[in-house]
Amino acid sequence: MDKEKTLELFYKQKELLDTFLLRDAISKEQYETSLTGLITKMNIAKEDLDIIITSRLILRKWRIEDAPSMFKYACEPEVGLPCGWKPHENVQESERIIKAFIDHHPYCYAICLRGDIEHPIGSIELNLHTSLCRSEDECELGYWIGKPYWGNGFLPEAGKALVKYGFEVLKYNAIWCGYYEGNNKSKRAQEKIGFVYQRTEENTDVPQLNEKRTANVSLLTKERWVSLNS
Ligand SMILES: CC(C)(COP(=O)(O)OP(=O)(O)OC[C@H]1O[C@@H](n2cnc3c(N)ncnc32)[C@H](O)[C@@H]1OP(=O)(O)O)[C@@H](O)C(=O)NCCC(=O)NCCS
Repeated sequence: MDKEKTLELFYKQKELLDTFLLRDAISKEQYETSLTGLITKMNIAKEDLDIIITSRLILRKWRIEDAPSMFKYACEPEVGLPCGWKPHENVQESERIIKAFIDHHPYCYAICLRGDIEHPIGSIELNLHTSLCRSEDECELGYWIGKPYWGNGFLPEAGKALVKYGFEVLKYNAIWCGYYEGNNKSKRAQEKIGFVYQRTEENTDVPQLNEKRTANVSLLTKERWVSLNS
């Protein structure tokens, strides 16, 4: 069986165990024992223990060797500028960014299409301790998708899976998100995930571009997420 199929099977079984644990049908000890057994039996590598699978996507951690894939999309001004960063100038710059993700961003995931786990098409992250967070139990969602893949609903799909992980596993109580005025693509993607507009902030700094912009801030509380998903 190829690696991706094994991972799919593993995560299906793990999801069952997670559900049993969430419903108190098994104890934490039973959960740990069953999970360890599954990992050994299916020969799952440590680096593959932290992936999220959706119907069309796999979210996995960035690897240094992904730099050419990242550069292919992050060199486009239409990807970086709406996020507030300069387009990448070369593969080495993408490599530096990936290294920073690996070292300092524990919840930053490469977005891959199922069937092609080796070539990420975007990035999505739960950022901790950002200026929007009011307390330790809040974080902020950030993302981009390579231009050839826009308009397929990939980001909402990845976003729904990552906020689920944020609320259920990481136990956050609220997740913030933002978009600069005029970025209607991002506004729509946030609405599809369930975020609700909160306020507009004028003259916010965009440090990497040395400019000021109007930012719109939206929020998804755990309470709302539970009600949307029940
Ligand atoms: C914002 C972004 C992540 C949305 O990802 P996505 O997977 O394309 O999301 P969706 O398919 O749900 O599309 C969202 C909206 O974008 C618009 N859109 C989709 N494809 C488009 C295209 N090729 N050209 C222009 N607009 C497009 C549509 O209005 C769509 O809303 P709709 O489905 O109600 O019509 C993606 O456009 C992107 O990476 N943009 C550049 C980086 C960025 O803005 N990041 C967010 C910073 S806050």
